[in-house]
Amino acid sequence: MHVIILSGNPKKDGLCQSMVDAVREGAEEAAATVEEIRVNDLKLIRCQVCQDGWGTCLTEKRCQYGDDGLDDLMKRLASADVLVLATPVYWGEMSESLKCCLDRLRRCAHGAHGLLAGRQALLVATPGGSGNGQLTCFEQLDRFCRHTGLAIFDYLGANRWTVDYHRRAARSAAFALARGRKNGDTVD
Ligand SMILES: Cc1cc2nc3c(=O)[nH]c(=O)nc-3n(C[C@H](O)[C@H](O)[C@H](O)COP(=O)(O)O)c2cc1C
Repeated sequence: MHVIILSGNPKKDGLCQSMVDAVREGAEEAAATVEEIRVNDLKLIRCQVCQDGWGTCLTEKRCQYGDDGLDDLMKRLASADVLVLATPVYWGEMSESLKCCLDRLRRCAHGAHGLLAGRQALLVATPGGSGNGQLTCFEQLDRFCRHTGLAIFDYLGANRWTVDYHRRAARSAAFALARGRKNGDTVD
């Protein structure tokens, strides 16, 4: 089982990273291989909104500007059995870097037969300031999954005063996913 964590976190420590680390621990405990991709390191350009709204993303399911790193990212994502989307909550949304990445990825991977379709997704969002904006952030992540055919396994939100027990949930969720549990399975 290969788990890819696509993280929009610019920081290497703190609240969001502690949830990412918990996911990694749970997946590794279940003997999965884990790859953490930090989108901030990729320096992707934003979607150029080609022609009258669509470009090669529609006709060829690839971005005509994909040599900036998006093509490589798509190849790496193709190897994932489970995709974890993790982000701090900024302005009640996912981080700008993750949004920039998912905007282009969605165009190239949309539909029931796209690159990500049918895989399990775990969503992690951490509002670290007021604690507000978690739901609207999840709504964005949820929409990305619906458009790309990802099967949402769970939504894990954590803030400053709940992270201790949500870290345990993150670890358990990743463990369950890495052991092959799927959206729709029934547990006792
Ligand atoms: C530009 C920006 C906007 C933010 N907006 C919110 C917000 O809407 N709600 C919230 O609870 N926290 C907000 N925060 C705080 C982050 O959610 C917080 O830094 C992060 O989720 C968790 O802490 P970490 O940075 O230690 O991972 C914002 C932070 C930044 C930098």
